[in-house]
Amino acid sequence: MSFVQYEPKGDIGYLVINRPEALNALNAQVLSELDAALDAVDLELIRCLIVRGAGEKSFVAGADIAQMKGLDPAQGEAFGKQGNDVFLKLEHFPIPIIAAVGGYALGGGCELAMACDFRICSDTAVFGQPEVGLGITPGFGGTQRLARLVGPGMAKQMIYTARNIKADEALRIGLVNAVYPAAELYAAAEKLAAQIAANAPIAVRACKQAINEGFALPIDDAVVCEERAFGSCFQTADQQEGMGAFLEKRKHDPFTNH
Ligand code: COA
Repeated sequence: MSFVQYEPKGDIGYLVINRPEALNALNAQVLSELDAALDAVDLELIRCLIVRGAGEKSFVAGADIAQMKGLDPAQGEAFGKQGNDVFLKLEHFPIPIIAAVGGYALGGGCELAMACDFRICSDTAVFGQPEVGLGITPGFGGTQRLARLVGPGMAKQMIYTARNIKADEALRIGLVNAVYPAAELYAAAEKLAAQIAANAPIAVRACKQAINEGFALPIDDAVVCEERAFGSCFQTADQQEGMGAFLEKRKHDPFTNH
């Protein structure tokens, strides 16, 4: 793999989009390497992933415009499906994924970040869906996930105008959870990932699944997703230890993923 590096570090895994000469733009090879990198994650060991871009300038500056220029409609649709399939795999990945956005997150970069569980960014970050300025629509989920995250009015304004927004505006509209000085971004991501990794992994995974499954459902059906998730945690070693430790007024042992 040359454009995507997977670096496990303890119980946290880093996915690094590593094509800095093109500001980490997503071509078909990057997407297929990202897909393969997800398959390589050891889910017994790793409890949280962080996705970031290589270099200081860019998270991901979009789908690869040079590769897209000559596509016909069927090829365009297939490229969109390739991106959507990988991003759905991220969205449904069993463990949480944090997008640490340092620099440009445009087009496919914004879409990649939105497929993660949540986003934090540097004060140098720039988000946007510039596609209509290139004569296309967003193609890797932008027309769908942006509206779900920031509401349809703001999503439509961003997409129709193709105007980029800076970190402070991304924070204001709820596209990112927090903004950090650029030099502190990855340490902050690692701290968040470590907090997640310290909690009971089966419970964290069940929360991700319940939130994802229930989000698009009416509340009466959505709470059923939660009941399933809730029930699945009982009689696990981690539930026994977590509750036992509370009742015995002691610190719980490290959770085991069992
Ligand atoms: N696809 C392909 N190549 C890209 C790219 C993309 N989405 N974004 C950047 N690159 C390449 C540039 O072509 C350039 O390559 P070169 O050195 O071979 O000429 C290199 O990355 C550096 O980009 P450059 O434009 O010179 O950097 P900059 O600092 O002047 O501008 C951006 C940075 C992000 C504002 C600008 O690169 C840009 O607008 N990129 C396209 C963003 C976009 O529209 N994305 C959505 C695509 S659907």
